[in-house]
Amino acid sequence: MQKPWEGRFKEKTEGFVERFTQSVSFDKGLALWDIRQSIAHVKTLLKAGILSEEEAEKLIQGLSSIEREVSEGRFAFRQELEDVHMNVEFRLTEKVGDVGGKLHTARSRNDQIATDERLYIKDNILYMCGLLKELRKTLVRLAEKSVEVIAPSYTHLQRAQPIRLAHYFLAYREAFLSDEKRFMDAFRSADALPLGSGAVAGVDFPLDRFYTAELLGFNRVCRNSMIATADRDFILDALYACAVCGMHLSRLAEDLILWSTEEFGFVDLPDRLCTGSSIMPQKKNPDVLELIRGKTGRLYGNLMSLLTTLKALPMSYDRDLQEDKEPLFDSLKTLADCLEGARLVLEGMNLRANKMKSFSGGFTLMTDLANYLVLKGLPFRQAHHVVGSITAYLLEKGKKPEELTMEELRNFSDLFEKDALSLLDAFTSADRKVAYGGTSKEDILERIHVAKREEGLI
Ligand code: ARG
Repeated sequence: MQKPWEGRFKEKTEGFVERFTQSVSFDKGLALWDIRQSIAHVKTLLKAGILSEEEAEKLIQGLSSIEREVSEGRFAFRQELEDVHMNVEFRLTEKVGDVGGKLHTARSRNDQIATDERLYIKDNILYMCGLLKELRKTLVRLAEKSVEVIAPSYTHLQRAQPIRLAHYFLAYREAFLSDEKRFMDAFRSADALPLGSGAVAGVDFPLDRFYTAELLGFNRVCRNSMIATADRDFILDALYACAVCGMHLSRLAEDLILWSTEEFGFVDLPDRLCTGSSIMPQKKNPDVLELIRGKTGRLYGNLMSLLTTLKALPMSYDRDLQEDKEPLFDSLKTLADCLEGARLVLEGMNLRANKMKSFSGGFTLMTDLANYLVLKGLPFRQAHHVVGSITAYLLEKGKKPEELTMEELRNFSDLFEKDALSLLDAFTSADRKVAYGGTSKEDILERIHVAKREEGLI
């Protein structure tokens, strides 16, 4: 089979080189976007008077039938044709004859690959945002169901203050909302057309690149042909968005893994989402969650991998850039799976409300006692000290805060009056967090309402 560059070469390509330099084994995933791009390119060449109507029609028909072959899995990709671009072009010439050789006029694979990747990333980001939205909806539904469930919150993984459990689910919803913002930032950085930049210096024909951009749905046209072919920042942005989202998922996964232990016992994971042990018959392991946590490592790795590839590359296109695709494909697929896994677990898990109900506040209510003294005029630092002493006293006596009597309280400060005892209740504590963004029932109901509106649930 002839190589496009054969005119200049005296030797046949070594087998190793073919295998080592090929990218078709993975960039075939770009075929549909490559064809879409080629159709727009044909229309642009027609508009510039480089192709006749008849030629353009033939090419577009040929490309459309290749598109069907690819969609139906009938396209036979060949390694000796190196990459997706040459595979499509070769097949086109097989189908339409010599006019197929006109497709690559005023185009280089350097602007072609950058265009494919930008188109591909934009579509995949929209898909990812859809998955993120589904996950957020699940969290909002869980929040709605758990307004009346009180739970301990943790700082330093030590019990901190009582919260309404809804507050927890809404917290993660915020995190996944900020992921969408990062993905849409990546979308915007990908939203510029490189095609028409040629190999590096631009093209010799008067292509209407703004027309091409319109055909392909790009919002902007890359303004400099050198950086247009050298730039992979839009992939970095997408990989960064994936890495941060993976980090959020890994934190959520870690909480749920802890919550599903016998020690916490806050949630039960359904059998269908767990796996067992080959030796210990009693085990039910939260593998989906563990893998979500674990796969975050490769999401970070993919970002580092491309950053490292890009470092010190001379302007403009270098073949090193071919290494951008596998990390990208891997991150998009990995994250999509993790988002789906997290949603399945959240939807399938059972909250063990009775276990949470047995939580009545305990020492997590001590800040409330301190704040009581503050309202009586004591500076917070002194109040903190007084309640610290009460805590030490209770620990020494082996008593719970709820068991405190009025006399005991007054031994520590005569600012305590009868109503202080009524503070020793977890719901009361939660609902005293009245400032915007806190865990009071009123605030949470309002947040849920807004979230439902934002997610299109009402
Ligand atoms: N497979 C190449 C890549 O992914 C396509 C561009 C090749 N360009 C070239 N001049 N060899 O980067």
